[in-house]
Amino acid sequence: MKELLHIAALAALLSVASAWTSRVHPNCSYADIEGSWMFYEGERNLNNSAQCLSVDPVRVTKVQLYYPNQATDQFGNVGTWTLLYNNAFEVLINGRKYFTFSYAEMIDNYFIRSLCNQTYPGWSYDVTLRHWSCFYGVKETQTGTKLHADNFKTAQNNFVMTTEYQKKFVREINSKQNSWKAKAYEQFNGKTAEEMFRMSGGRRDIPVEKPQPSAVTEEQRKRASLLPRHWDWRNVDGVNYVSPVRNQLSCGACYAFAVMGMLESRLRIRTNNTYQPVLSVQDAIDCSDLVGGCDGGYAYQLSRYALEQGVVEEQCRPYNANNGQCLANTCDRIYVSDYSFVGGYYGACNEVLMQEALLNNGPIAVGMVASSYSFPMYSGGIYRDLQISARSDFYPFEYTDHAVIIVGYGEDAESGEKYWIVKNSWGDTWGEEGYFRIRRGTNEASIESDAFEASPIP
Ligand SMILES: *[C@@H]1O[C@H](CO)[C@@H](O)[C@H](O)[C@H]1NC(C)=O
Ligand SMILES: *[C@@H]1O[C@H](CO)[C@@H](O)[C@H](O)[C@H]1NC(C)=O
Ligand SMILES: *[C@@H]1O[C@H](CO)[C@@H](O)[C@H](O)[C@H]1NC(C)=O
Ligand SMILES: *[C@@H]1O[C@H](CO)[C@@H](O)[C@H](O)[C@H]1NC(C)=O
Repeated sequence: MKELLHIAALAALLSVASAWTSRVHPNCSYADIEGSWMFYEGERNLNNSAQCLSVDPVRVTKVQLYYPNQATDQFGNVGTWTLLYNNAFEVLINGRKYFTFSYAEMIDNYFIRSLCNQTYPGWSYDVTLRHWSCFYGVKETQTGTKLHADNFKTAQNNFVMTTEYQKKFVREINSKQNSWKAKAYEQFNGKTAEEMFRMSGGRRDIPVEKPQPSAVTEEQRKRASLLPRHWDWRNVDGVNYVSPVRNQLSCGACYAFAVMGMLESRLRIRTNNTYQPVLSVQDAIDCSDLVGGCDGGYAYQLSRYALEQGVVEEQCRPYNANNGQCLANTCDRIYVSDYSFVGGYYGACNEVLMQEALLNNGPIAVGMVASSYSFPMYSGGIYRDLQISARSDFYPFEYTDHAVIIVGYGEDAESGEKYWIVKNSWGDTWGEEGYFRIRRGTNEASIESDAFEASPIP
């Protein structure tokens, strides 16, 4: 009883509005999260409308998390877990899933203190989606707290993109290398630093720490040698399984376009192109508590939403590129049956596993860290990220976490250079008709570090 009273006091302390913007985003890595946790869980009498703004604990589960993906509980059951980028984690044990965001606090409206030993209130349920409850975690072993300057606040905020800047960037990019070509785009003129940021990932308090791809094993190398050298879901024996390129405009919802685009193509593949929906980004970003709408979010979290709540077609909630109210609707919902990082957990991904996931299941969503002022200028070729240094006469290149969709791969006929074929969400006049190619096998722009897939149910 004493224990539960103590828990209740802590619960009050930890209660918080669960919306993305009211959460401070921490920088918690594997080393911070692995270890022994107590999950304090409320009554299991909720459903998928549970917001989990606070927790009234009635049950404690002890969970041990081992690097990289094994979990055990106090009864000796063995399960799995994964870190989600650097701000959340998900545990699957004993037939239940626990998902929660790591805790952080803002200091002086400028610094972020990550408290990786505790979490915001999160969600738990049976894998059959029954017995929903809210819970929060407290780590038994103390981890040191970390302090960071808010990345976004240190960014150059009074920058406005002009033709002159673009010309300068283009000249510099094209003079430095000839793997890819840059050009100026009318559509970027007049955009502020914030808008350029939003186009490719949106606001991040703290940059995401990308894991290195896992080493390709001998076994994987053998399997890879049997794979086709070229693949393109836009042209499989003359048939296109990829939905049209969209334009996210100045809303940081790339992660949602990446997930919806992946699901759209996979629905086409699974129905032999008889079902070709365009899915509503707006409905998902307005209604999911797990992502930040136009302020950014992650493919994993959005796919979890697609499993729990389902997604609707575009005509049900057309895109307006702004954050909006979640409006109830009675449209048919499409669900996913599962979702995961390629390889099974964050950090398990590599080139071969990505090729296999792409060939077996359809297009995959990927995160990429690219400079927000050089990547947008891409007009064609095989992209490589440029380490362009900041110069006194223009603004430093900010790195952003963009999300895109891999639809194929190949090798350059002349140079033999391997590349991915990637669908962007900046309209079909950008790049190679809305697509770009990027060097493959070298984790270029971190594109091989956190590929992600989900299975839609047609
Ligand atoms: C985030 O944490 C990792 C691991 O502790 C560290 O290497 C990295 O520098 C941190 N990021 C920032 C922005 O401080
Ligand atoms: C879900 O729970 C809420 C609040 O407890 C309740 O109002 C609602 O009717 C429930 N919905 C369903 C479908 O059971
Ligand atoms: C987490 O760690 C910090 C710093 O060591 C400590 O002050 C805090 O009480 C810990 N949180 C919990 C819930 O134990
Ligand atoms: C798939 O669609 C194509 C083109 O309409 C058709 O020729 C083919 O028979 C279909 N495949 C199956 C298994 O129905």
